[in-house]
Amino acid sequence: MNNTITTRRQFIKTAGGTALGLLAVGSLTGAAFSCSSNKNQVAAETTQAAAAFPWPYQKIDPTAAAEAAYAAYYTAGCMYGGFEGIISQLREAIGAPYDSFPSTMMGYGGAGVAGWGTLCGALNGVAAAISLVSDPKVRSPLISEVFGWYGNTALPVYKPASPKFEDIPVSTADSQLCHVSVSTWCTKSGFSATSPERAERCAWLTASVVKYTAEVLNAQADGSFAASFVVPESVTGCLSCHGKNGMGNVHNTNQSTCINCHSDLGANHPGG
Ligand code: HEC
Ligand code: HEC
Repeated sequence: MNNTITTRRQFIKTAGGTALGLLAVGSLTGAAFSCSSNKNQVAAETTQAAAAFPWPYQKIDPTAAAEAAYAAYYTAGCMYGGFEGIISQLREAIGAPYDSFPSTMMGYGGAGVAGWGTLCGALNGVAAAISLVSDPKVRSPLISEVFGWYGNTALPVYKPASPKFEDIPVSTADSQLCHVSVSTWCTKSGFSATSPERAERCAWLTASVVKYTAEVLNAQADGSFAASFVVPESVTGCLSCHGKNGMGNVHNTNQSTCINCHSDLGANHPGG
């Protein structure tokens, strides 16, 4: 059974077509030779990079991936857990090229990247895994599905087989940021950010994110993936004026919850 999302041959074919297109544009519009030859070089590099990935995917067991993620969290942190949860299953099933990937490099993403509290490491890890196995055309929809679900869901939802604590409270972050996610949970649960319960919460959360990601990737491999995340009205309302069809896309965010950061809009603000 081959559930590869895009077979390598299909992808090389597509990428080859794009490269030829670039070459044609280069020779038609390249007034200066140096410009045209530079474009040729870029096209060649694009083809070379494209041939190397996406790496082959075949359906994995979401629960086994979640368990691997939970264990990996305690080895090298949340981003490593997110990435390795998926990749360990592909390494076991497929071998090369997965057996040569230095997964521990993903340790950089712990605690929102080197402790900066930015993007949740579990999300960063699964996004890297999705990117490694997906045609770039479907990468963003798949990642958005996981990111949207994360923001809207009371997490964690997955309890590992051998947990360190029996009960871990849940909270809905309404954000994809480590600091917001962790602090919301701490406020709700009463545990401090340095408590072992908080670490366990992030370990369960990493396992939860990996399980959901495995389900999304499996659906994509089956050809049955349908995005369930829709940008909420609270955000599309803001974007009706501030988005690209309104006053212009003032922000580089079209999806994250606006009022997390803009809770203090003045009484005279036209949007209420
Ligand atoms: C992670 C925090 C964060 C999120 C989420 C966020 N913003 Fe912002 N936004 C900022 C910061 C910081 C600035 C720059 C400082 C300021 O103007 O408050 C800004 C600036 C703006 C400005 C320009 C303000 C000005 O003075 O011109 C608008 C309009 C805006 N944001 C709208 C939105 C909308 C709409 C959303 C949701 C799609 C959103 N923001 C989501 C942090 C955020
Ligand atoms: C009916 C249109 C409309 C809607 C809807 C709207 N805004 Fe605005 N917003 C404006 C206008 C007009 C300004 C002033 C623009 C300027 O000064 O450049 C503004 C200014 C802002 C500013 C900068 C000034 C300030 O008060 O801080 C931010 C931030 C902002 N809006 C965020 C939001 C967010 C978040 C939402 C959704 C909750 C939203 N807006 C919904 C029209 C709208």
